[in-house]
Amino acid sequence: MILVGIIVVLAAGLIGVLIYLKNQPPQTRGFQPLVEIAAQEPDSSKWGINFPNEWATFQKTATNNTDTTYSGSSGFSHLLRDPRQVILFAGYGFGRDYNDERGHMNALTDVRATKRVNEKTPGTCYSCKSANNPALWNEMGMAKYDKTPFVELGARIDQPIGCANCHEAGTMRLIVTNLALEEALDARGMDWTTFSRQEMRTVVCANCHVEYYFAGESKYLTFPWADGTRIEDVIAYYDALAFSDWKYPGTDTPMLKAQHPEYEFYTAASTHYNAGVSCADCHMPYVRDGAMKFSSHDVKSPLLEPELACGQCHTDVDYVIGRVKTIQDEIYKTKLATEDAIIDAITAIQAAVKVSDVGPVLLEEARTLHRHAQMRWDFISAENSMGFHNPEEALRILADAINLARQAQMKAAQSAHAPSLLNIGVYDGMHPKPVPAP
Ligand code: HEC
Ligand code: HEC
Ligand code: HEC
Ligand code: HEC
Repeated sequence: MILVGIIVVLAAGLIGVLIYLKNQPPQTRGFQPLVEIAAQEPDSSKWGINFPNEWATFQKTATNNTDTTYSGSSGFSHLLRDPRQVILFAGYGFGRDYNDERGHMNALTDVRATKRVNEKTPGTCYSCKSANNPALWNEMGMAKYDKTPFVELGARIDQPIGCANCHEAGTMRLIVTNLALEEALDARGMDWTTFSRQEMRTVVCANCHVEYYFAGESKYLTFPWADGTRIEDVIAYYDALAFSDWKYPGTDTPMLKAQHPEYEFYTAASTHYNAGVSCADCHMPYVRDGAMKFSSHDVKSPLLEPELACGQCHTDVDYVIGRVKTIQDEIYKTKLATEDAIIDAITAIQAAVKVSDVGPVLLEEARTLHRHAQMRWDFISAENSMGFHNPEEALRILADAINLARQAQMKAAQSAHAPSLLNIGVYDGMHPKPVPAP
């Protein structure tokens, strides 16, 4: 019975894929442009004259405001929704201001509004926010761009994300525009100009939806991919450099902050990635304007239009949307349990630090365990699909994070000769409870 069920589901999936492949619009080579678009033209409205459908749908990203259970476009505060994160990011900008991401056309407004930006912020922060970038990188070189202070560089930037971030004018093919992506692929022996069209429908998002850091004094934009793109590879890379984003208050732990590693997480052997599905398949589904078929550029949560986003491959859309709910609820619960475990570890380490004859080696081990646990948790938390992009990988990483966090708590208790620090739930979910003095 179960086997028959599986066969039916597989057959339905295959038919879906076949129908989908049959319906791919022909490649748009040799179109008749109404106007000539300059190379790396930052102003999307000019491209829009030639491509009114893509431009009209792209503009919708400015005003989208609908939320889903875990995501959506309103830009709600993660800190208000989940106050544990105020503790997890204590001493760092994300503990003060951390809003959910919105549509592409808001990128420039939002980066300028965040309280995480100040007079010391490097220009690098504009790297994923503006269609001015490709032309500026071409003119200044990326090293100089990154070194220019944010406020100064801002004078040269007046466009949000736009056509020039993903397309080559003239041919309209998808391209890598961010030099940091090109360098990261290069370091792994990969040359994007040889990628297939279907691969580019994912790689073009990796211009921005990735983990990155600012290397050295010059704040050079770098993706930590030299050892691979799994979370273990990324942590090993940062450990080898002794890199940290901030020091955790009261424990002095050198911490790591994950950015938005959708690309790394999705491509870590997820079911959809292995089946050859691209980011654009779900986030930029084909829509019709009379006889014309085009890719919706209204990039947003696919749960807001599941018939379009999933229905081109899955015949039973209600079923797969039900699966998304089950998966996300499960991962959300596990994510909160991970946060509780990490906060218990933090509370225990903070108490241990104050003990006069604390064992320094054990304490240092506890700090490292906290660093590694929290980066794993953050990789899943900062990735914006609440685990859906790769459910098995999310649960694997969160399980490791809980284990490491509880080990950190144990090492801290041992280092302080204080079994009371082993109490689970020293943190009650809202406010840290006072820990009994060891
Ligand atoms: C199989 C379909 C599918 C594929 C492929 C896919 N996504 Fe998603 N994505 C989703 C779903 C479903 C969500 C959850 C949306 C929600 O919770 O509202 C999501 C959420 C997101 C979000 C957050 C959306 C929001 O409303 O804030 C981002 C950003 C994102 N995906 C980027 C990507 C990128 C980049 C890729 C490729 C590396 C990708 N996705 C591949 C289905 C997909
Ligand atoms: C975030 C990246 C991104 C941005 C920004 C973007 N596009 Fe696209 N565009 C894509 C992807 C992905 C495809 C699908 C390409 C494919 O299947 O080969 C696409 C396809 C197209 C196509 C081919 C026909 C179609 O609809 O599939 C045109 C024309 C186009 N885009 C125009 C534009 C214009 C005009 C803008 C600016 C208003 C723009 N794009 C902005 C990613 C982007
Ligand atoms: C040039 C950088 C850049 C590229 C390329 C890019 N994104 Fe984004 N994306 C962003 C930024 C920045 C935001 C958040 C903007 C904000 O919050 O104001 C975002 C937001 C999103 C959202 C959330 C929208 C919402 O309404 O909540 C989704 C979904 C998304 N991107 C998917 C994609 C996909 C899929 C691709 C590839 C086809 C892609 N992005 C390519 C930078 C980029
Ligand atoms: C381009 C085609 C395509 C699109 C678009 C697509 N899927 Fe899939 N999906 C697949 C394929 C192929 C599989 C592999 C399973 C199979 O063999 O049937 C799959 C599997 C799944 C599974 C089962 C995975 C598992 O491991 O249990 C779920 C759930 C799912 N998809 C949900 C979605 C949702 C939700 C959307 C829309 C946001 C979506 N899919 C969009 C092709 C697609």
